Order: sequence, then C-alpha cells, then structure tokens
Amino acid sequence: MSEEILRVSNLTSGYGKVTVLQQVSLSVNKEEVVAVIGPNGAGKSTLLKTISGLVRPISGEIYFKGKRIDQLSPHLIAKEGIAHVPEGGRLFPNMSVWENLLMGAYANRETLKSGVLEKIYQIFPVLKERRNQFARTLSGGEKQMLAIGRGLTMEPSFLMLDEPSLGLAPKLVEAIYEELEKLRGLGLTILLVEQNTTYALDLADRAYVLENGRVVLEGAGKELQENEHIKKHYLGL
Ligand SMILES: Nc1ncnc2c1ncn2[C@@H]1O[C@H](COP(=O)(O)OP(=O)(O)OP(=O)(O)O)[C@@H](O)[C@H]1O
Ligand SMILES: [Mg+2]
Repeated sequence: MSEEILRVSNLTSGYGKVTVLQQVSLSVNKEEVVAVIGPNGAGKSTLLKTISGLVRPISGEIYFKGKRIDQLSPHLIAKEGIAHVPEGGRLFPNMSVWENLLMGAYANRETLKSGVLEKIYQIFPVLKERRNQFARTLSGGEKQMLAIGRGLTMEPSFLMLDEPSLGLAPKLVEAIYEELEKLRGLGLTILLVEQNTTYALDLADRAYVLENGRVVLEGAGKELQENEHIKKHYLGL
C-alpha cells in the first residue's frame, strides 16, 4: 500500500462565526497529485489555509506524515515540509525575482540551502533569465512560475497550489501544467486546488469535489472526467 502523507479527518473550519468547511475528510499519498475542484466560494482556499495553519480548525484533525499538525503555527507547519502557494501568488511586486525567491525562505539567506536557487532555476529557466527584474514586470505565466518557485525554496516534500491557472491565457495554462507535470516527475507530492477542471482532472491521480464546504464526490481523475455530474456542471459537456 502507498504511504499516506496527508490526512484530513472530519475537518470543520471557517472564519469567526462563519463555518465554511463541514466535516471534510481527504487524504494524499506519497508522490500523488490530488486535485480539489469546486465552484467559487466552495471553501477550496479555506481548506489549504487550514492545512497550512493560517485558519484554525473548529473541529477535526490534520495529520502530516503521521504527525498531528492542526494546532501548530504556520511557521512550524512550513518547517514540517509543507509549502502553500496562495491564490494569486502574493508576490512582492517591487522586489526582484531573486528577492521574491529569498522571501520564500523567510527572508533569510541562511535558511536558503546552497544550490536550492540553482535547482529552482533549472526547473524554471525563465526565472534565472529574469532574476534581476521586478516581479511586477513579469508576464502572468512567469508570475505564477515565480510563486511556485518561491514555494520550493524551503525544499518541501508536499506542495499545495491554489489555482495556479487563475487569470492565465489558455496557452499559459498549458505551460504551467507542463511545469506541474515536471514537478510530479521530481517526486513531489501535490495538492492542487482548481477551477480549471479540465486540466486539473487530467493531471490528478485522484480528485475531490467540494461544494458548499462538503466533499460531494471523489475518485480517480480519469474516472471523474466520465462522471455525469462533473460533465454537466464542471466540463460544460
Ligand atoms: N477572511 C475571510 N473572512 C470571512 N469569510 C471568508 C474569508 N475568506 C473567505 N471567506 C468566505 O468563505 C467562503 C469560502 O471561501 P474560499 O475562499 O475558501 O472559497 P474558494 O472555493 O477558494 O473560492 P474561489 O474559487 O472563488 O477562490 C466564502 O463564502 C467566502 O466568502
Ligand atoms: Mg479560492
């Protein structure tokens, strides 16, 4: 049996008195790509924020490599090897590409292990070419690559991506998904949140469908592509 990396168990979470996620359970195995799809406001970003400790669960448990992490601070959760690339990337527009990458290592050059930047530049050569350019001057696709690159600076074993295709032209979406395929090849385990159902289900080994804060469907990526509910409501077929 494959090794379980992440287990979310009966997770209920939200903001103040507003409950967003209701009893969500899911798991991600080692070297798997798992997608969470669902409409606007379903709670996809809230799920990732709760896993990375930015939002505190109301009830339920989160385990990473067998260790309970749902009471840890975001900083300690990151140290366990979990990287969260937020929706829209949250880059520092007036810092260079290189400085943005350093910020991924908590603005501390010492925490950036030697050779890590070179590895990231190997995955995304365009970031090397543009390392001295302000982040705000990058194209949409390049910005997304920088956001992902920044997520890799702490050499995570588990990468969470929030809508990597958001706002990108179709050609760039394709380019980003080619990069994600490369990351999979490097042995990373990935949890991906997407509204672009077509690409997400194509890449994902397994996927969960989140509606109104609840998991309503789950299955293999290819299997869900054939599901009537998915075809009608997500793929427009
Ligand atoms: N900081 C916040 N305070 C209060 N409510 C919030 C906050 N962030 C999100 N919400 C609410 O939580 C619900 C779920 O939001 P969330 O961002 O998780 O959805 P999503 O599935 O990521 O949607 P999208 O596809 O539009 O990104 C929404 O109703 C949203 O208004
Ligand atoms: Mg979101």
